[in-house]
Amino acid sequence: MTEPSPKRTLLTCALPYANGDIHLGHMVEHVLADIHVRFLRMTGAEVVFLCASDAHGSPIELKARELGQDPADMVARYNRAHHADLERFGVHYDEFYTTHSEETRKHSYAIFEGARAGGLIYTQDVEGFFSEVDQRFLPDRWIRGTCPRCGALDQYGDSCEVCGSTYRPTDLLDPRSAISGDEPVLRTSKHYFLRISDRQEFLRGWVNTPEHMPAATRGFVNEWLEAGLRDWDISRDAPYFGFLIPGETDKYFYVWLDAPVGYIGTTEKWCNDHGRRVEDYWRSADTRIVHVIGKDIVPFHTLFWPAMLDAAGYNLPSRVQVHGFLTVNGEKMSKSRGTFINARVFAEHVDPQYLRFYFASKLRSEPDDLDMHLGTWGDPDDPASLDASKSELVERVNAELVNKIANLASRVIKFVREKLDGRVGALPPESAEVARRFESSTKPAIAAAYASFDLATALRGVVEVSEAGNAYLQGAAPWKLAATEPERARSIAALGASYVAVIAGLVKPVVPEWAARVERALGVEPLAWDAIGFHFENRPLGDPAADIRIDRMDPEKVKSVVLASRAGLERKGAPTSTAKAAATPSPKTKERAMETEKSTEAAGGEAARVAPLVDAEITIDEFSKVDLRVGLVKNASLVEGADKLLRLEIDLGEGRLRNIFAGIRKHYAPETLVGRRVVVVANLAPRKMKWGVSEGMVLAATDLASPKGAERVLVLEVDGEPATGSTIK
Ligand code: MSP
Ligand code: ZN
Repeated sequence: MTEPSPKRTLLTCALPYANGDIHLGHMVEHVLADIHVRFLRMTGAEVVFLCASDAHGSPIELKARELGQDPADMVARYNRAHHADLERFGVHYDEFYTTHSEETRKHSYAIFEGARAGGLIYTQDVEGFFSEVDQRFLPDRWIRGTCPRCGALDQYGDSCEVCGSTYRPTDLLDPRSAISGDEPVLRTSKHYFLRISDRQEFLRGWVNTPEHMPAATRGFVNEWLEAGLRDWDISRDAPYFGFLIPGETDKYFYVWLDAPVGYIGTTEKWCNDHGRRVEDYWRSADTRIVHVIGKDIVPFHTLFWPAMLDAAGYNLPSRVQVHGFLTVNGEKMSKSRGTFINARVFAEHVDPQYLRFYFASKLRSEPDDLDMHLGTWGDPDDPASLDASKSELVERVNAELVNKIANLASRVIKFVREKLDGRVGALPPESAEVARRFESSTKPAIAAAYASFDLATALRGVVEVSEAGNAYLQGAAPWKLAATEPERARSIAALGASYVAVIAGLVKPVVPEWAARVERALGVEPLAWDAIGFHFENRPLGDPAADIRIDRMDPEKVKSVVLASRAGLERKGAPTSTAKAAATPSPKTKERAMETEKSTEAAGGEAARVAPLVDAEITIDEFSKVDLRVGLVKNASLVEGADKLLRLEIDLGEGRLRNIFAGIRKHYAPETLVGRRVVVVANLAPRKMKWGVSEGMVLAATDLASPKGAERVLVLEVDGEPATGSTIK
């Protein structure tokens, strides 16, 4: 980016949903942004770096409900966890706030009212599936049914995982609520729309200003513009966790309306805490606004968001920087393989600086996916069979960060400390040419690469400088001269130490903690970008206690991460989250995504579908309220019209049989269950279903190692032959 920089930069990352842990996919974005920010600050730029939790929406509301928690409490808990995880990776935000805030509500209203005053808001009745049992409209991802194309059972309301087709929930054969299993009915409700179709020309202009986004992204966005934009449904009916629409009592802003407004709300919070004015950031030509986001949320940031900002007179972004998706060994991250890696788990086993370095070595300005190569699996289903010794992650870190960069620093500093009394001499004559080339080409090229988010090129440049430094030392071999020609040795050491200072400065945005240790060891001030150069001479080194070594990365640690990630599935207290697909959506699916905004609600929505892990503690008293009994299955039969259910008649020693419906039809032939002793929740409130009353629940395990979408369900059985109705504790 070459445009003249305004006074200050406000930089944000996408606001992570507060219903799952930060994983390595998220870290791609935070590392990319943090490195860029650290570089800008080294150049003396004034930068505010902000993020927040995306607190609203159905997935969050439903997950909190499932956990029996207040959504605001759940969000606050994830907010603290996310913030701590990010800090651990050296990603430091000036403010990590939440969209569930008064500041964000206020600016959301301002934008809504601005759009309304501009004639961009209208209401229209929309038909949707409503569940009488759940007493709510069901988001597409909470409707399951038979695929209208291929007949696969139990598919999502918007797409089939078996044949890949997309459709509307109303096309499903046999639609059901994923919450209760109830058959939903069609109902109409008033919805609010943003008349984005009126803003096409304005958006075309904005999108086609080259600085605003990477070229590949612009190509996609133009395709959507060509296809024509449909107006955007910005409301949702209660129950919902979000902001009420002004003048309504049971309609809320759709989460994507207020989510980006969180950028402004968070700015206001930071401004209030630091004696600044939010107008100077969002209504002033002095500020450059940069959003760093993943490619799945491009339409929200390049179409809806500019239209919203423009409607209310806020600044538009100067740049939407888009990155690709993280895959592991060429595949979408997978929980069962242990490649869905939680950031915290990674940091527990491996120095987070390694990940920063590795990601940086792979990130460029265009939104290509990046693959994290962890090694080779003997048996893909067995995490213990991973051989990480040939992992690209390990090899790159060891070959470049450890062997070239850190090793040069250690050699030079050790040599000067041990053989030259900790003092270097005057720079040798050969340093003039080295410095000239560095100043005229290497340094500006690295700066330009950092500035344009091309971290791979920046880091390549740094590695090349370290290669040159190593080669120089190898050739000049000052250790051979220390005794005989100490002045020449001291002179060579000055150039060697200058290399070290230069490299520490250049790599500081990527591995700031290590660079700070080198600065201490050299006894130099924290390096600003302008101060990086070959001029360390005639002076002593700094703190002899500063440890500048970086350990080689041990492949066994990678294996530990994978094993722990997989084990984390069973770990108590580990909240769930779900990987997003790595593929670039076709314009067609994107169009659908924009129409009903599935891409992201869907991702959060999936989280509710995987087995919820124990998130909230309960007391022993609460647990003892559950009356678990041994039941003997006397009869089992199919249920007409319910493709998931079996009807079980179970003896609990009560002198009558209980009628219990269990969602295990796909997993058991009915006759195989008769005669088994199972675990029954005996005091569950009876539930009236279409097919009769269900008087309890049979416990079953969902096998998390089974493929997603086709999870195996296994009924719990009791050992021996205890009397029916025996208590279980
Ligand atoms: N809450 C929305 C963003 C609202 S911004 C106003 C959201 N949240 S998210 O938690 O699902 O994703 C946050 C960011 O992480 C997004 O930019 C997304 O693209 C990025 N990533 C999530 N999974 C990723 C990978 N596997 N790889 C790279 N980035 C990924 O979307
Ligand atoms: Zn299908």
